[in-house]
Amino acid sequence: MSVSSGRKFSLLPMLGHTKGKRSAVTCALKCDNACSGEVCNTSSNSYFRDIASATMSRRTALGFGAAGALAVAFGGALTSPETAVASGPGLSPAAKNGYGASKLKFTAIAPVDAAVDAFTVPEGFTWQPVIRWGDPIFNDAPDFDVDNQSAAAQARQFGYNNDYTDILELPGSKGRRAVLFANHEYTNETIMFPASMPAADVRKVGAAAHGLTVVELERKNKNAPWSYVKGAGLNRRYLNDTAYELTGPVAGSTLVQTKADPSGRTIKGTLGNCSGGTTPWGTILSGEENFNGYFVAPGTSAEDKRYGLTNKPTARQWELDDPRFDIRNPESANEANRFGWIVEVDPFDPTSTPKKHSSLGRFKHEGANVIVAESGHVVAYSGDDERFDYLYKFVSKEKYREGDRKHNMTLLSAGDLYVARFTGSSPASEITGTGTVPADGGFDGTGEWLPLVVGGESKVPDMTVEEVLVYTRLAADRVGPTKMDRCEDVQPSLHTGKVYVACTNNSDRGKIGKEGATEVNPRNENRDGHIVEIIETGDQTSTEFTWNLLMVCGDPAQGDVTYFSGYPVDKVSPISCPDNLAFDSVGNLWISTDGAPSGIKKADGLFKVTLDGAERGRVEQFLAVPRDGETCGPIIHDQERTVFVSVQHPGEDGTFDAQLSFFPDYVPAGTTPARGQTRAPRPSVVQVFRTDA
Ligand code: FEO
Ligand code: CA
Ligand code: CA
Repeated sequence: MSVSSGRKFSLLPMLGHTKGKRSAVTCALKCDNACSGEVCNTSSNSYFRDIASATMSRRTALGFGAAGALAVAFGGALTSPETAVASGPGLSPAAKNGYGASKLKFTAIAPVDAAVDAFTVPEGFTWQPVIRWGDPIFNDAPDFDVDNQSAAAQARQFGYNNDYTDILELPGSKGRRAVLFANHEYTNETIMFPASMPAADVRKVGAAAHGLTVVELERKNKNAPWSYVKGAGLNRRYLNDTAYELTGPVAGSTLVQTKADPSGRTIKGTLGNCSGGTTPWGTILSGEENFNGYFVAPGTSAEDKRYGLTNKPTARQWELDDPRFDIRNPESANEANRFGWIVEVDPFDPTSTPKKHSSLGRFKHEGANVIVAESGHVVAYSGDDERFDYLYKFVSKEKYREGDRKHNMTLLSAGDLYVARFTGSSPASEITGTGTVPADGGFDGTGEWLPLVVGGESKVPDMTVEEVLVYTRLAADRVGPTKMDRCEDVQPSLHTGKVYVACTNNSDRGKIGKEGATEVNPRNENRDGHIVEIIETGDQTSTEFTWNLLMVCGDPAQGDVTYFSGYPVDKVSPISCPDNLAFDSVGNLWISTDGAPSGIKKADGLFKVTLDGAERGRVEQFLAVPRDGETCGPIIHDQERTVFVSVQHPGEDGTFDAQLSFFPDYVPAGTTPARGQTRAPRPSVVQVFRTDA
């Protein structure tokens, strides 16, 4: 690929063969072809097989229940950012007071053909974008002009490929004002920029489309849809030169010092932000996931290999403009160690310094989700989204203090880190790799949280605390956790304390030389994914748990072997590749997807899943996103009969001159777009609401 000519570089040499149903472009740009290359985890660690047949007592759900977490009353006026969080700390009010009924009633939509370039909602609902790529968020920002983009303009406009999203009401606004957070995972230069745009400009504008955005919203009343407020006081873009404070044991370590930052405490920018979580104290967490794709590395060390760092040119070639992205350079050799963390942002303070928390470990964090345990310690769950990688849990050293937000914002800076090992209840001979349920009627078992760092001390032989936290994957390899099928969102229910793990897929499971099916990852060549339900034994800080599979995804009508907790498989919406999770106010799980069931080409969607009672396992599709798009960042405000999603990478397989999606402006061909509109696809945050709202 040429970078010296006036034309932008071609992405084509980077396109590999996809193993799943995802576009090759998405694989190249989002994950640096993570699923096409060698599996990063080549450790011989494989405990499951050895102990899967061990007898275990079939423990029923250990009733975490309302008593198992710090149930804090929530209600009254919104007086601080802490109370702006819809769920509040601990279990939800509904867990105390009874679930009641959701006001969000709908009839499931049928799956939508993948080639359809439409945003599809149930009857009685409509949709509109809240904010789109390029929307100006500051008073000095120009209107979006897809033919005349600049880095200066993009830095003042909403970024690209929004993923984790949340909306928090502003205290005292009587429901008329809110703050929206979205992160921007990656860019697709081929469809964003004209082919005539100079490569250097492409790199700079693309870089400014990364990072994070905070923007205020307003609405006329509680039934009206939200719109964003240009120039509002909380509006902020976090860019590649934004300073992040590194907290915890790694801050100041020689492992993160560079010539530009000899202190090892101040990191510029955040990369590969995927999912996230909202804390009980009203801050936002964002996971740095596929950061490796932004660095050129020596690529030979065990550490580089374990994190997927290679010596090939990166897709976006920022290394040509900023030597810190070429870590073959001794002065920036540690730069990649400064990414792969959980980021914490205070959306209520635009002057605050965002943080990267080393205590939660460094890996391809999908995101992190927090619950306050009965003991008052804060527990954060986080998955490492790579084939055969692990599931982690952090327990804070200090305790949550209601109303003391300043203190609570320090809780993720110090604590213990664990990694999960799952043991199955059924004999290995009954785990056939097809997804067929074993004779005891369920995929289930017990588990342990294996210590990596406890009480400020390393529990991993021959590794210091700093090494464990910077090279967490290698540390975990040594203690024998379970190799998972790509953990995406891991989210505790604030209604029950049960924890849900979206394992999106792993088409390499069971292939020659790779670990085969286990009870917790029960399908070989797992293309459709599954959801694990974890029940901590007692307090959320426990080192023991029980588990079962809520569902084994797919399309029963296409012959996929599926399981929906015993719910009739012919009565569910087909679902595949679960990715992001959310809960509504009455405890239903909502799942957004990144891939369609095997054998059919259907659009990604958002699905409601009933967790309790006779309908446990019932899956109902709520919406479908436009062509090539992925559904991200679901927010379920069911009592206001509204839902929000981030639509990522619509029209991914197009080119600037031959677009495949025209979402969300849908400017008719041959007509001149209205001010601020375009015929290019624009990743957007969308609100779905009742037509009678
Ligand atoms: Fe960015 Fe794990 O999805
Ligand atoms: Ca079993
Ligand atoms: Ca994701």
